[in-house]
Amino acid sequence: MSAQDRHIHPIHDRLVQRTDKEVLLGQRGCVVWMTGLSGSGKSTIAIGLERRLHEQGLLTLVLDGDNVRTGINNNLGFSAADRTENIRRIAEVAKLFAQSGVVTICCFISPTVEIRQQARMIIGADDFIEVFIDTPLEECEARDVKGLYAKARAGEVKDFTGISAPFEAPEHPDIRIATSGRDEAECITDLYERILLRVKRADVHA
Ligand code: ADX
Repeated sequence: MSAQDRHIHPIHDRLVQRTDKEVLLGQRGCVVWMTGLSGSGKSTIAIGLERRLHEQGLLTLVLDGDNVRTGINNNLGFSAADRTENIRRIAEVAKLFAQSGVVTICCFISPTVEIRQQARMIIGADDFIEVFIDTPLEECEARDVKGLYAKARAGEVKDFTGISAPFEAPEHPDIRIATSGRDEAECITDLYERILLRVKRADVHA
């Protein structure tokens, strides 16, 4: 640690360590990073996942547009630069929670390989679980829960992901949840079972 770092982090040696917190909570911290188109089901699946993990006694947090773009990121729009900054801040916040042992579930379109790579770098590959909520554009558009696809087609919303801005599907996500033809509960259970394996601490609940 440099002299400057010591000045910025003077109490580092006295901080309670991550492992101590994880043992206290009986879980491993991580970031479940959900990527997918608007209306793909990210937030719905995240809420269901959180409920199931909570019922198992695990401490969780969901970060999504509702609590981030209206708060810490309320000065950001949807240009490529703003999306990059949106994801950068979210990843930094998620990292702090994961390092405190919390199972942190992030639901953001995070539309490009580069933007997700940035999140992975900030959070650290060991703590980053990329989950692709794979719903075809046609289905998201047909559902159009928020009416934004119609507005995007009419040119009333600019730079809309999938219509007038890019979405690069992950080629090798850690977990892929294809939602077509499956009900919500099935998708949630599928994801829950896989995440549970990653977050349980055998040394605590043994
Ligand atoms: S991201 O691209 O920066 O990751 P984020 O997940 O935070 O996007 O926000 C996406 C949500 O914002 C969408 O689900 C939608 O409700 C809303 N939204 C508003 N304008 C746009 C737009 N131009 N492109 C995509 N989503 C938009």
